[in-house]
Amino acid sequence: MSQFYEKHIFVCENVRDGENARVSCGKHNAKKIREYLKQKIKEYAPEKKIRVNMSGCLDRCELGPVLVSYPEGHWFTLKTESDVDIFVSKYILQNELSSLQNLQLI
Ligand code: FES
Repeated sequence: MSQFYEKHIFVCENVRDGENARVSCGKHNAKKIREYLKQKIKEYAPEKKIRVNMSGCLDRCELGPVLVSYPEGHWFTLKTESDVDIFVSKYILQNELSSLQNLQLI
């Protein structure tokens, strides 16, 4: 089976408001993280067919900001630009998971 993208990454940007609302990725800089991720992929891996899209809630809210990458279905939490740098360097450029244990979600 062929696949259109090498990796198709969905970054949750859901925002919940309200005093008793469950925590949400959008309240923890998810939009900035997604934009920074797109910028870094464009800068370091322009030849790769990698798509980054925003998504709604992926139901792992307390671990956010979260993303899931297909076709593998790998989950990550990227909280800082430094996390994104590591993610791009290891996962995007080298397809390597062993050094990403602090960022990967089971
Ligand atoms: S708000 Fe991001 S996973 Fe639910």
